[in-house]
Amino acid sequence: MTASRNDRPVRKSVKVLFVCLGNICRSPMAEGIFRHLLRQASLDDRVKIDSAGTHAYHVDEPPDARAQAALDQRGIDISTLRGRKVTPTDIEIFDYVLAMDRENLKNLMAICPPGAASKIRLFMEYASNCSEQEVPDPYFGDSGGFDRVFDLIEDAASGLLADIRARYHLTA
Ligand code: 4NP
Repeated sequence: MTASRNDRPVRKSVKVLFVCLGNICRSPMAEGIFRHLLRQASLDDRVKIDSAGTHAYHVDEPPDARAQAALDQRGIDISTLRGRKVTPTDIEIFDYVLAMDRENLKNLMAICPPGAASKIRLFMEYASNCSEQEVPDPYFGDSGGFDRVFDLIEDAASGLLADIRARYHLTA
């Protein structure tokens, strides 16, 4: 953070981390969808994004085939992403640490370094076209669940981009 313009901190970049349980369904989908949105807004070099899981079950694995298929249908490729587990250092480094559900939020709070808790939010807080407060875990359901997850994430992603623009003055 340096100077301020219109009361917004001037930043070269803002960092966003999406977090779910396994880092193979919801959070890599959010990463892919939000990156796509940032490219359309020519902000992909200003907003740095990543995703991680609260558990290590799927470390180094690619996203679930159903998650990849749901995004492939919309022209978004997440096949090169690999699972990793979130760390307390992530919460220090990232400006936004966005949990897909309340269980993820609770697990993030449990490892949160002092003074960083305000960065941890439910991702669906940024949605405006639906009343859901959580992105439901689609892992044990059918492929229709992944389409629903896509719609929820797309809604919250637009609100998140608006929040970043409102809170930060992004500059070269
Ligand atoms: P995600 O979905 O948290 O959206 O990646 C899950 C992936 C794997 C498991 C649970 C949820 N699992 O139990 O292995």
